[in-house]
Amino acid sequence: MRRHPTGLALCALLAVWLLSGVRADEPVVRDEAVLARQATMKSAKAALAVLAEMSALRRNFDRAAARAARARLQEALADLPDRFEQPYSDRHTRARPEIWENWPAFLRSAETAQEAARGLRTSSLPALRRSLPAMMSACLACHSRYRTER
Ligand code: HEC
Repeated sequence: MRRHPTGLALCALLAVWLLSGVRADEPVVRDEAVLARQATMKSAKAALAVLAEMSALRRNFDRAAARAARARLQEALADLPDRFEQPYSDRHTRARPEIWENWPAFLRSAETAQEAARGLRTSSLPALRRSLPAMMSACLACHSRYRTER
């Protein structure tokens, strides 16, 4: 018995649909601007992880690497206001509408984080350890106010 080519194509489509875990009538449409701001946040997280690992002795302290991580963190935080300025949204965003209801307050949260990043000390491990908590709480403070739970 010869299988119908259309039937095979349908099977393939069905497999893709099942494996992707996405309902066929709800395509995952991501907004480019939302993806861009999430990418900026991911970059901040990657940079912060380097410093946190050094601080926790899970990575050797290295002044040059610590400075590079701080620079990357500062870059991401400097981009933050532009990335969030417009209320772009899609079904996967965790940004709360409160961001745009009081934009100056959100900007202040972003500035607090920028200041904490400027305050990061990379000259020695003890100095890094002393200055890292303020950075982490600036991230968390903004998230607890402006990011929805998953
Ligand atoms: C001024 C507010 C603010 C600050 C400061 C901030 N974030 Fe965020 N962050 C957000 C918001 C809002 C979202 C949700 C964005 C979305 O889903 O559209 C987010 C999302 C994230 C995400 C998830 C990205 C994704 O892929 O969905 C990570 C990781 C993250 N932030 C890390 C950090 C780290 C690390 C810091 C500190 C260095 C930081 N953030 C500082 C507001 C902030």
